[in-house]
Amino acid sequence: MTASVTLKTPADIEKMRIAGRLASEVLDYITPHVQPGVTTDELDRLCHDYMVEVQQTIPAPLNYAPKGHRPYPRSICTSINHQVCHGIPGDRILKNGDIVNLDITVIKDGFHGDTSRMFCVGEVSRQARRLCDLTYEALWHGIRCVAPGRHLGDIGHAIQRFAEQAGYSVVREFCGHGIGRAFHEEPQVLHYGRRGAGLELKSGMTFTIEPMINAGKRDIRQLGDGWTIVTADHSLSAQWEHTILVTDVGFEVLTLSAGSPSAAG
Ligand code: MF3
Ligand code: CO
Ligand code: CO
Repeated sequence: MTASVTLKTPADIEKMRIAGRLASEVLDYITPHVQPGVTTDELDRLCHDYMVEVQQTIPAPLNYAPKGHRPYPRSICTSINHQVCHGIPGDRILKNGDIVNLDITVIKDGFHGDTSRMFCVGEVSRQARRLCDLTYEALWHGIRCVAPGRHLGDIGHAIQRFAEQAGYSVVREFCGHGIGRAFHEEPQVLHYGRRGAGLELKSGMTFTIEPMINAGKRDIRQLGDGWTIVTADHSLSAQWEHTILVTDVGFEVLTLSAGSPSAAG
């Protein structure tokens, strides 16, 4: 089955803007709680309750069960240090020096907004901070490639070139994705590639860009929980994610809110 890329209507886009802003506002809300001593389950509970009770959004990860996966048991993903993505909240306590990605996906009025940020817990090493900062820059190098007539490969190429020049590696097994009424739609948005390759972008497409960048080698492993992805060499990994709309002239970042860091570079 090859589902095709859906082009969003103006009414769809208005709903995507709302879902995107709400997803980002969950990150704004949780930011002051990301401190040494908090458990990832507490962060999950706080986010869950904020989404359901304050925003009246649906946490898309909860019970999400794509083919080959058991249902995801929490409402957010919390990926710490050498965890690449899809870390499951639990009783682990965040400690000074950890870096953690919080990945939020909400559903509002039938549409998804998907975004993640890195958080430094207390004081972190210079290497950890550099990885987080440069991964954010890599995301923005990808975002700035988005315009009608450009190609998905332009995005991947820009991210890969920047990350590898910094001495890092790009995870290949996970990618950005079309998003809308479905959490994961066509197309796949690779974070590596060749300029001019792949699908041509058209106004009205919505997709995420969410590079996972490793300080060491790109190889990954999945843990026995069926979800958590870690670096094979246990090197640190970072990820940032935005949901993007292709406009008539370029791009619009849908997952912005008052607490979003400013655009990199
Ligand atoms: N939010 C992730 C993404 O960016 C997907 C998480 S799936 C889950 O695509 F089930 F782990 F939540
Ligand atoms: Co995503
Ligand atoms: Co996400």
